[in-house]
Amino acid sequence: MYDVYKIRKQFPMLTNNIKMQNKPLTFLDNCSTTFKPQCVIDAMNEYYTKYTSNSHRGDYDLSVNADTKIEEARKEIASLVNSEVNEVVFTTGATGALNLVAYGYGLKYLKKGDEIILSVAEHASNVLPWFRIAELTGATIKYVEIVNGRILAENLRKVISNKTKIVSLAHVGNVLGYVADIKEFAKIAHEYGAIMVCDGAQSVPHIKTDFKDLDVDFLAFSAHKMCGPTGVGALVGKYELLQKMDPFTTGGGMNSVFKKDGTVDYRLPPYKFEAGTLDVAGIIGFGRAVKFIKEIGIDNIHKHDQELIDYALEKLKDYKDIIIYNKDARNGILTFNIKGVFPQDEATLMNYKGIAIRSGEHCAKLLDNYLDTKATCRMSTYLYTTKEEIDVFVDAIINGGDILDAYFN
Ligand code: ALA
Repeated sequence: MYDVYKIRKQFPMLTNNIKMQNKPLTFLDNCSTTFKPQCVIDAMNEYYTKYTSNSHRGDYDLSVNADTKIEEARKEIASLVNSEVNEVVFTTGATGALNLVAYGYGLKYLKKGDEIILSVAEHASNVLPWFRIAELTGATIKYVEIVNGRILAENLRKVISNKTKIVSLAHVGNVLGYVADIKEFAKIAHEYGAIMVCDGAQSVPHIKTDFKDLDVDFLAFSAHKMCGPTGVGALVGKYELLQKMDPFTTGGGMNSVFKKDGTVDYRLPPYKFEAGTLDVAGIIGFGRAVKFIKEIGIDNIHKHDQELIDYALEKLKDYKDIIIYNKDARNGILTFNIKGVFPQDEATLMNYKGIAIRSGEHCAKLLDNYLDTKATCRMSTYLYTTKEEIDVFVDAIINGGDILDAYFN
């Protein structure tokens, strides 16, 4: 039995009586980031207060303890996404992970005339690294068409060719929230000899994302969208590709030897990609967050997200002034506009009522090609969101009052 109230007790941001505009906080911007449970905060504090040391460098107990915790975190993450432990590379987040594939793999293997396939629904972090690689290598970008918010395999087939070297798509889009058939896309990409990169920033925290079953070549995600700390994430990559790939950053910790003549031996993956002092506390917090998620159960989290969205849709179904862009996505994301209201005004009104949502382009700045609107409002749930919070949100939409109240009160 999913007990959301019991879960909430573990989050200081939900028990500390936090207010916005002097009203109880209703946090519905979970695609953007999530709150952290006490166990994650404690795990990080423990590192700072009981065994601070650098990792993978020291020959003394404190440092070995840090090494052990980092490797335990790696194991937790590998088990969540069903990869081998040595296929998990720690990065600064999904953005860092996607840049690592782009520069480490794309820059090395792409050449003029090659093609990279994206969709217009991609987040900037899954577009801009590829723009740079295209610019640097002479490769071209192609887009797979979106139909009713979704990317269809048949449309991928229309743009893919033997020139395609990389297909990079989100498993769950951060604006529309549809789950893409990444397994099928990976199969198609492989038929053409291309690699499949999956942006899992919005899927790994919310739905079962099985690296081996999806058979993607790379999977990128962030800790902070799944109850972990900011500034840390992972790139999971097939080991043989990690071996072939170049490091993006070089420095301490990732080499085994280098000489005056410029020769250098890199360590084996994943360490080859982890230059410099790692975010030890962040990685430990990431591992603890993943353990926390696993304890609740990813399928339970997904079901909870779905129930909340269904509940919101049911309550809004007779409200004529709302335009909902992803009614059937059912994945913890509701993207909408209120007729005649500028989205940022709507978000400001929500803020005035103590509700945090996101408005604007949500970093997916190509999506206006499909949505036919520049900006939207986005409400997003997570494992601690309650139906009462959805009630507050719906009430703000239906009985919101005058937008100007938000500016002049
Ligand atoms: N990627 C985050 C979002 O969609 C920041 O809000």
